[in-house]
Amino acid sequence: MSLISQSAADEIHTQPQISIVGAGAVGQLIYQQLSTANNSNAVSINFIRRTETSQQQSLTFTNLEQQSTTRIAEFVGSNDWTHQLLNTQLLIVCVKAYQVVAALKPIIKLLSPNCHILLLHNGLGPHLDVSKMLNGQGLSLGTTSQGALKKSTWHTQQTGQGVTQLGHFTGPMLHETIKKSLLSSIPQSQWFEDILPMLWQKLAINVAINPMTAIHDCRNGELAASQYRNTITAAVTELAKVAAAESIMLDLEGLITRVYQVIELTAANYSSMHQDVHHQRKTEIEAINGFVVQMANRHGKNAKTNEQLLANITALEQGYSNKT
Ligand code: PAF
Repeated sequence: MSLISQSAADEIHTQPQISIVGAGAVGQLIYQQLSTANNSNAVSINFIRRTETSQQQSLTFTNLEQQSTTRIAEFVGSNDWTHQLLNTQLLIVCVKAYQVVAALKPIIKLLSPNCHILLLHNGLGPHLDVSKMLNGQGLSLGTTSQGALKKSTWHTQQTGQGVTQLGHFTGPMLHETIKKSLLSSIPQSQWFEDILPMLWQKLAINVAINPMTAIHDCRNGELAASQYRNTITAAVTELAKVAAAESIMLDLEGLITRVYQVIELTAANYSSMHQDVHHQRKTEIEAINGFVVQMANRHGKNAKTNEQLLANITALEQGYSNKT
């Protein structure tokens, strides 16, 4: 299916352009899925890079059937941002939660007010800062559980199917044609009128699995052991109470059942936070348990377990950042 039809392109007056910030595993996966659907080249898809010069880069992608394809992607350097970003109708931000604000700062002022921004990362929080930076643009949020792995800088492999949940957060809505095309390009993607409950549900999985696997240095499946049950239950219970204070009503029993389903379904995997700690990288803890603690403080709620998990991961990070 073509990403966007010629009539739709005419309807939005210029050749539509989708720009991606972040060429990590998820950024490259989304680029490949959009490009595969864009066989008529009716839309231009590029990456925004921080360095000055623009360049072309050959990107290899291995799909779930182990078939590899290579595409030449445009990486727009800051010398060409002014001209290129003005034509961008959708900016998809695929960097880590803690990089979102810094990545958007120099870019957002160059976007047309008609551009729409989509944040796609683990955790919650940056949307609150980004909504204050908007210059008329609309903002949507999303989460994906598609598995992708970087085999090398420019070679990404899809490692698992998964759902992608997207939805509007604030400002003007995403152009209907681009929205439909996005949904038809990304397998198992869905649009939710109310995206925040979906993101809080995903957060419940992450507040339990991510720090626990990193602290206990284990695969997701080992968290099924009874010794971890109290901490998992307490972390998720605190999250549900904080979400309720934010007027997001979640079913606590359902959340805990879902956490244990994910533990089972991903039993053999190491969580993203386990991998970050293992490779001595900065983790996304601030946007996961840190976000629950931040919201709990705002509403005067107890989030002792999330505070403890946040403190444990922060201590692990400090241990290795002091060494480097
Ligand atoms: O961050 C992760 O690793 C994943 O979101 C999840 C679902 C916890 C599985 O490992």
